[in-house]
Amino acid sequence: MTDEIEMKQWIDWLLFDIAGDMAYGRKFEQVKNLKSSTFLSTFGKVGLWGTPNQVTRRFRMLRPFIWMLIPPSVVLTVPTLLRLNRQEIRRRMSQRDEIKHPDYVEQLLPKDGKPDPTEDWILAQANVFIVAGFDPMTNLISSALYYLLANTDKYCHAMKEIRDEFAEYNDITGERLQTMKYLQAVIDESLRLHTNAAFGLPRLSPGYEVDGNYIPPGVIVQTCFFATTHSERYFNDARSFCPERWLPSCHPLYNPRYESDDRQAFTPFSQGPRGCPGLNAGYLQGRIILAKLLWSFDMELANKDAIDWEKDIKMFAIWIRPDLFVRVRPANGKA
Ligand code: HEM
Repeated sequence: MTDEIEMKQWIDWLLFDIAGDMAYGRKFEQVKNLKSSTFLSTFGKVGLWGTPNQVTRRFRMLRPFIWMLIPPSVVLTVPTLLRLNRQEIRRRMSQRDEIKHPDYVEQLLPKDGKPDPTEDWILAQANVFIVAGFDPMTNLISSALYYLLANTDKYCHAMKEIRDEFAEYNDITGERLQTMKYLQAVIDESLRLHTNAAFGLPRLSPGYEVDGNYIPPGVIVQTCFFATTHSERYFNDARSFCPERWLPSCHPLYNPRYESDDRQAFTPFSQGPRGCPGLNAGYLQGRIILAKLLWSFDMELANKDAIDWEKDIKMFAIWIRPDLFVRVRPANGKA
């Protein structure tokens, strides 16, 4: 049996389901219901509004017109979403002794009898956890799948590594996946090429010298991650998908061509006190999802000639990604 599936949609459903469950045990059940939740569909539209929002912060005369750019469906949906989220947080807080598994909100609640933070504060954190836990993850999995399926030799290396290691689906665990070097290299190379925070992360200068230039206090400083990770100054074959650059020298697929790559130019989770707290959870989820896909299915990109990931992705605060039509067949005797 061969089936063509638009995988980006499935990946969005899966990662949003996981993000909601891990944030505060919220069950979106989109994979089960084969349907996007209102939260997910609204999130996609709010993203489109993010760019004019940023631009009009710098060109203030245009600011009053920004409300004309928000799609009416978003204006109508956001209050409902906020109300539903508040209800869900109240449910979560009222069942705090019965939760099925630890979630991120649990980590924010005092264990020493001190009073809880306010509901508004918990709600704000929970929303950040869902969005921050979903968006980079769905970008990672969909870009990794695209790059693997568009580069069949790399796809075969990754598939072989996983299928040689695991006899049974249930043997695939986060712990055992930590030694899968090629899989990890695929993840890092996808994060390098599909730069998540491509817009740069703003930082307010306290008044400091950077690279010999004094940056006065109050100036906003940003680095363009996309330009850095796509520059030949730091990476050989900078615009090509080469997981081999991340392999240790003892690996059979190691290629010394990438020895001079400047790995410090690659910080997909950022760094410092505002760096991503989800680094380990992100890598863990990435390894498990990709490994299970590679183990279970033989896949082929059906619209390979119709898309060029780097040309077709668009950044409007979040990445708008092209559809991924994939021919999916259960792997021999596996799925
Ligand atoms: C491939 C996966 C991920 C990537 C590439 C990524 C990347 C980033 C980046 C670049 C930032 C901004 C850091 C800064 O401003 O310096 C960030 C912030 C954040 N990330 Fe992640 N992230 C990933 C997964 C996750 C996951 C799974 C979670 C879990 C909830 C998460 C939670 C957060 C939170 C809460 C922040 C805000 C931190 C703050 O503003 O202080 N991330 N992430």
